[in-house]
Amino acid sequence: MAASEPSSGQRVLVTGGAGYIGSHTCLELLQAGHSVTVLDNLCNSSPESLKRVESLAGRALELVQGDIRDFDLLRRLLGSPGGKQPAFDAVVHFAGLKAVGESVAQPLAYFDNNVAGTVCLLRAMAEAAVKTLVFSSSATVYGDPASVPISEDFSRSATNPYGRSKLVIEDILEDLYRSDPAWCIARLRYFNPGGAHVSGLIGEDPQGTPNNLMPYVSQVAIGQRECLQVFGGDYPTPDGTGVRDYIHVVDLANGHLAALRALRQDDGQSGRFLTVNLGTGVGVSVLDLVKAFERASGRSVPCRVVARRAGDVAACYANPALAKTLLGWQAQRNLADMCADAWRWQSQNPQGYRQSAAQAHSDGATR
Ligand code: NAD
Ligand code: UFG
Repeated sequence: MAASEPSSGQRVLVTGGAGYIGSHTCLELLQAGHSVTVLDNLCNSSPESLKRVESLAGRALELVQGDIRDFDLLRRLLGSPGGKQPAFDAVVHFAGLKAVGESVAQPLAYFDNNVAGTVCLLRAMAEAAVKTLVFSSSATVYGDPASVPISEDFSRSATNPYGRSKLVIEDILEDLYRSDPAWCIARLRYFNPGGAHVSGLIGEDPQGTPNNLMPYVSQVAIGQRECLQVFGGDYPTPDGTGVRDYIHVVDLANGHLAALRALRQDDGQSGRFLTVNLGTGVGVSVLDLVKAFERASGRSVPCRVVARRAGDVAACYANPALAKTLLGWQAQRNLADMCADAWRWQSQNPQGYRQSAAQAHSDGATR
């Protein structure tokens, strides 16, 4: 079965659903016939993303503005213990902080939000007997890999508090499953998400200076930033710049639907515990990406090679074979698609979702 085919409708709680990957996943879930409730505290997102998701899907979702660390709220949302039918079939858990540099400066904020927040969510799920979870892990758990491509059985390590928060959560999920094999858990290790929905209506909306390559390149192409700093030109890679596995965000979103289906296969019998890379298997250098973006946008992206960024690895790309075997999923879109879609989003929304908020405000003021 193709990864994007609809399956029977489930009631899905999406934590962090207003964010970049979450909003794209909400759209795919709605389009596949699932019903969606988003729990998001909007610390790094705008509700405008979800308004656009609803208009693209032609269907409504529910947004609950709140924090995954609020146990009473989760209890109310998931359904009370004993007797009452759980309110959801599954939880897709995106909520978390994700800036590596910030995590080094504020480790406790990362452990509190990501680790304590996940424990709070899991306690509420256990109490409500909602035992199906898809978790956003990351290729960061592979640390500095001994070789590429990276398979799921490679050793794991953390090089910063953000990465450690993902490692700890991965371990907590494994312990939880061991304690109660009725749980159905998928740990999805994303490689480098990029691109946007083909409509140009939803996409990545970084606050302040982007940390990641793709949004930075977009902002240079549109003239908001002068020049891309290429972090390191002396890596042992074909052109000396860092190599990564850029995966289209819509493919990534569909990976979550495939995981939900795979977890359901054993529904009612016993649980399942899956750990899967979501990547393309293709290594792309910084300069490859810049060239592809220039082609897609018709704009030039001036670059300057500077020193390596602390903590970066030379090359990181997935062996994606297990996702195909276990989930029936593989990436459908290539680097050119990703750049074309990122450029459409960037050029139609130069200020991201802020533009819509300002527009709505001025429309209201003139009415
Ligand atoms: P994002 O910041 O756009 O989305 C995260 C969402 O979670 C935001 O809407 C934010 O407001 C919300 N949130 C954060 N803390 C919360 C809390 N305590 N309670 C409720 N909501 C909260 O990030 P994204 O790029 O969409 O990433 C989603 C997930 O995928 C994260 O867990 C991230 O660590 C993981 N991930 C991202 C990447 C990447 O490069 N984007 C790579 C690997 C893994
Ligand atoms: N890079 C530049 N200039 C920039 C930004 C990035 O040259 O301005 C280079 C980096 O050195 C690296 C490549 O572009 O070689 C990709 O860098 P990103 O910051 O976009 O992504 P990373 O691979 O460093 O990390 C990202 C997320 C992590 C996640 C990891 C794997 O930020 O949270 O992908 O999923 F863990």
